[in-house]
Amino acid sequence: MAQIFPRWANKAPAYAAGAGALAAIVVPLFIWYYFSPKYTDVGYKPRQPVPYSHKLHVGELGLDCRYCHAGVEVAAVASVPPTKVCMNCHKLVKRDSELLAPIRASFESGTPMRWVRIHKLPQYAYFDHSIHVRVGVGCSSCHGDIAQMEEVQQAKPLSMSWCLDCHRNPDPYLRRSDQIFVTDWQPPEDQQAFAAEVREEMKIAPPEDCTACHR
Ligand code: HEC
Ligand code: HEC
Ligand code: HEC
Ligand code: HEC
Ligand code: HEC
Repeated sequence: MAQIFPRWANKAPAYAAGAGALAAIVVPLFIWYYFSPKYTDVGYKPRQPVPYSHKLHVGELGLDCRYCHAGVEVAAVASVPPTKVCMNCHKLVKRDSELLAPIRASFESGTPMRWVRIHKLPQYAYFDHSIHVRVGVGCSSCHGDIAQMEEVQQAKPLSMSWCLDCHRNPDPYLRRSDQIFVTDWQPPEDQQAFAAEVREEMKIAPPEDCTACHR
């Protein structure tokens, strides 16, 4: 019984003013499926086919996110790397490792690796990485400190109220452009002044209207 109304329903009156109609239409029961913990739970950490470690490759080897998530600055999706990116190194490094057998098999057969997707919004919500990255919202604000993760786990709820909390006040999260990929970023002392300036300069105005995210 506790789950009849989503948590979001608590805030319903506030939203209803603007958009009761849309809300009533877009919440048919089939959406229920998406409330499963798989989509909402912080800490979701599925077992991957190969124990790929960001802690090793990013934290220790120092690889840049874009080496593998090439779309993140230019496209809606960050995308997960094709096998050949791994083979750039693993043709030579640890070439006989048992752990890498599925990677070698994927490379030889041309069948993509089936990484288990971790962060996933429901179909009816629209998200675009490039827009966020362009204005200076960095990876760790939404994904946590990836460089410390042996296995990736969901760090933030990805709920609507989470999106809106930042959209209403993005100032604590706006970074200088050379800081986007820093995985343990903390706001510097002049954050407030910097954010106010950059917000004005780039005309940053995150949307709160329903159609921005529900198209
Ligand atoms: C050498 C390649 C490589 C590099 C470099 C890399 N990643 Fe990844 N990343 C992967 C692979 C492979 C997966 C899928 C397997 C997994 O989830 O661990 C992944 C998964 C992810 C996911 C979860 C995707 C999902 O399914 O929701 C996030 C978030 C992520 N990476 C962020 C980052 C960030 C941030 C950086 C830079 C700080 C980074 N990655 C650097 C290869 C890489
Ligand atoms: C820039 C080079 C580079 C790239 C690209 C790279 N790796 Fe690695 N990988 C390494 C190095 C170096 C090690 C550590 C070797 C050691 O421990 O001596 C390693 C170790 C590993 C190990 C542990 C192997 C073992 O037997 O201990 C796995 C698994 C792995 N990588 C998976 C991947 C996957 C999957 C990708 C592609 C998404 C990838 N790597 C891309 C350099 C790379
Ligand atoms: C404003 C929040 C936010 C920022 C900043 C952000 N991400 Fe994401 N990321 C998400 C959300 C939300 C999803 C799920 C998207 C979906 O399901 O449509 C996601 C999904 C992903 C995925 C899974 C594949 C995909 O594209 O859906 C990867 C990989 C990823 N992010 C990497 C990164 C990297 C690397 C950065 C930094 C350059 C980054 N993200 C910055 C929120 C963010
Ligand atoms: C940490 C801060 C932050 C979080 C979290 C965040 N956003 Fe944003 N988002 C922004 C900022 C800043 C902009 C403004 C970009 C601009 O004005 O150019 C923006 C812009 C957008 C836009 C507007 C794109 C356009 O066409 O102008 C969409 C859509 C969007 N975000 C969706 C989402 C969704 C969906 C989520 C949650 C899954 C989310 N955002 C989470 C900071 C954030
Ligand atoms: C910044 C992006 C954003 C804006 C603006 C936004 N939503 Fe959402 N909305 C989302 C995301 C993301 C989800 C999925 C949440 C989840 O999976 O937990 C969602 C989910 C929903 C749901 C499903 C129930 C729920 O709470 O998960 C309804 C209904 C909804 N939104 C209605 C609205 C209405 C009405 C408005 C306008 C007042 C609005 N949304 C504005 C991002 C947004």
